Amino acid sequence: MSLHQRQQQQQQHLIDSYPISPHSTTDVHHQRASTIFSRTGLLVLLSLILILGVFFPWIGPMDSLFSNRTGSLAKWRSYTLPQAAAFVGKNGTVIVCAVSEPYIPFLNNWLISVARQKHQDKVLVIAEDYATLYKVNERWPGHAVLVPPAPDTQTAHKFGSQGFFNFTSRRPRHLLQILELGYNVMYNDVDMVWLADPFPYLEGNHDVYFTDDMAAVKPLNHPHDLPPPGKKGRTYICSCMIFLHPTVGAKAVMKKWIEELQVQPWSKTSKSNDQPAFNWALNKTAGQVDLYLLPQAAFPSGGLYFKNETWVQETKGKHVIIHNNYIIGFEKKIKRFREFGLWLVDDHNDESPLGRI
Ligand SMILES: *[C@@H]1O[C@H](CO)[C@@H](O)[C@H](O)[C@H]1NC(C)=O
Ligand SMILES: *[C@@H]1O[C@H](CO)[C@@H](O)[C@H](O)[C@H]1NC(C)=O
Ligand SMILES: *[C@@H]1O[C@H](CO)[C@@H](O)[C@H](O)[C@H]1NC(C)=O
Ligand SMILES: *[C@@H]1O[C@H](CO)[C@@H](O)[C@H](O)[C@H]1NC(C)=O
Ligand SMILES: *[C@@H]1O[C@H](CO)[C@@H](O)[C@H](O)[C@H]1NC(C)=O
Repeated sequence: MSLHQRQQQQQQHLIDSYPISPHSTTDVHHQRASTIFSRTGLLVLLSLILILGVFFPWIGPMDSLFSNRTGSLAKWRSYTLPQAAAFVGKNGTVIVCAVSEPYIPFLNNWLISVARQKHQDKVLVIAEDYATLYKVNERWPGHAVLVPPAPDTQTAHKFGSQGFFNFTSRRPRHLLQILELGYNVMYNDVDMVWLADPFPYLEGNHDVYFTDDMAAVKPLNHPHDLPPPGKKGRTYICSCMIFLHPTVGAKAVMKKWIEELQVQPWSKTSKSNDQPAFNWALNKTAGQVDLYLLPQAAFPSGGLYFKNETWVQETKGKHVIIHNNYIIGFEKKIKRFREFGLWLVDDHNDESPLGRI
């Protein structure tokens, strides 16, 4: 690449990053500026402002839209979980995931699959950092919320400290808060992909619905009760996909999960994983709460779906949500999704509410 080309590229980069930078005086910049302020441009801008003002009144006074990008995005700092739940939960149900910035590609992939089942309007992204909060809400206003304090990496890595336990107990706390607000709530990890609509499977009026994380094949007509404990004296229910009705029972399980996270000493083997605590919470509340194990054929663990082709063929057409677990590392997860035709962001970005991100 010649120096000239490189300079041009750098300049273009600067322009792209700071479209209204006052320092740039290039021709390209002038062209861009005059386009923005053309008559049509102004009309579009005004209609946008009107629409935003009507539908998203909480983003503050209209003048905020004329301030800089950081300024208007900063409004999302004061967006609360009750406001966000009211916005996405119009039909009584909120679908939540918790995402930090490195997971945004997985969020996008999962969202495409959710949008294909027409449930994306219910999605609320619980942002674990401000970058995620801004990125999502900039492209898809109102669908991300940050519940302060933002867990900073320092606290998150002080394993064994009370701060660490507080951090890991955020998930059941968020779910409990949404239940207290009166919504049904579905939690999903974002390394999942929907192949069909899961809602028809959430039949009956049980308190808590969940899936088994075991890889062993079960009969198609397996019972829907909490399975018997495994080797470690507890079950291997996945904390990756949970559906809760806003009942006393479901709230009791969330409270017990929070408690279990506080009392469990952290060890090298359990790391940041909150799944054992969830399983102990199910074990201890089982008598007083109506629990429902979802069918394995519809909600298989990654240890089954990605590793037993015979089973996948046998249960063809029955799969609903696929979980890319039983594998460690971003790149490996993406590679496996690609191999199975489940990495949708490559070719179907236009179907995501976030677009190319
Ligand atoms: C952008 O807005 C923020 C918040 O309103 C403000 O603190 C900051 O100074 C503004 N930056 C510029 C370059 O105007
Ligand atoms: C809420 O339900 C109505 C009627 O069933 C449906 O048309 C609408 O799309 C639903 N909204 C969401 C956010 O799912
Ligand atoms: C953890 O949470 C407890 C109870 O909410 C609180 O009293 C304590 O100050 C927190 N500790 C840290 C280090 O965040
Ligand atoms: C709870 O765990 C204990 C210890 O492993 C076990 O004996 C008991 O059967 C479990 N209860 C339920 C309901 O799974
Ligand atoms: C794979 O699935 C088949 C068909 O369901 C089953 O018979 C077999 O035991 C499974 N293999 C393993 C290793 O679990």
